[in-house]
Amino acid sequence: MTAAVSCRSVSRVFRRGSLPPVVALDSIDLDVQPGEFVAIEGPSGSGKTTLLGVLAGIERADTGRLTVLGHDMGRLSGAELARLRRVRMGLVFQSFGLVASLSAGENVALPLALDRRAATERRDRAEAALASVGLGGLYEARTDELSGGQRQRLGIARAIVAEPELVLADEPTGSLDNETAASILDLLAQRTAALSAGLILVTHDPSSAARADTRYRMRDGRLSRESDA
Ligand SMILES: Nc1ncnc2c1ncn2[C@@H]1O[C@H](COP(=O)(O)OP(=O)(O)O)[C@@H](O)[C@H]1O
Ligand SMILES: [Mg+2]
Repeated sequence: MTAAVSCRSVSRVFRRGSLPPVVALDSIDLDVQPGEFVAIEGPSGSGKTTLLGVLAGIERADTGRLTVLGHDMGRLSGAELARLRRVRMGLVFQSFGLVASLSAGENVALPLALDRRAATERRDRAEAALASVGLGGLYEARTDELSGGQRQRLGIARAIVAEPELVLADEPTGSLDNETAASILDLLAQRTAALSAGLILVTHDPSSAARADTRYRMRDGRLSRESDA
């Protein structure tokens, strides 16, 4: 079985002008198996978003070795990283990351459009993804007509529409009230489990993290495993 993620001694240092360098990732080791739900907790500024960015191939590691879904990320070109991300990963963001000029359904279909799927397939799969997150019939809705919880359901639908093998979620419930957050988290866990996809959830919320198979804590760029959840 190929691991979803194998991360060995990965570091990332930001250098800006004459400012002291910031070690955002300090020799990170992380393994995620297919279908595993991993939670990463840690204070603001500890490197969580940088880690997800490196795993997604949005940013590159400075040192170390990173394999994601069987690919040595250091060997892929920018275009290959973008394609891997689009076709085999799903990303969910705290601020939803929706495109206001597109309808709800068009937002969900976006990864398929970028992958040049036919219009009818895009529509059918987006409708199915919408239904699976409880937004059936809202294909034509404008995103600014939706509540925060509905927008994040849309974010999840977009993340899963291409049936990814790995889902990366960066504080996906950070902008939502507690009750909505709990239902969104349930949905995210349920939809990724339905795909047998790995899920890496970055969160501030211990009760969210408690649902994960494996819990890690991030502090000053270092990742440590917590006692098994
Ligand atoms: N593009 C960047 N340029 C310079 N410093 C950055 C950049 N991105 C993040 N950092 C710094 O790296 C550290 C980790 O940031 P981040 O990964 O966003 O943490 P978290 O998501 O845990 O809040 C912080 O000190 C942050 O200021
Ligand atoms: Mg962050």
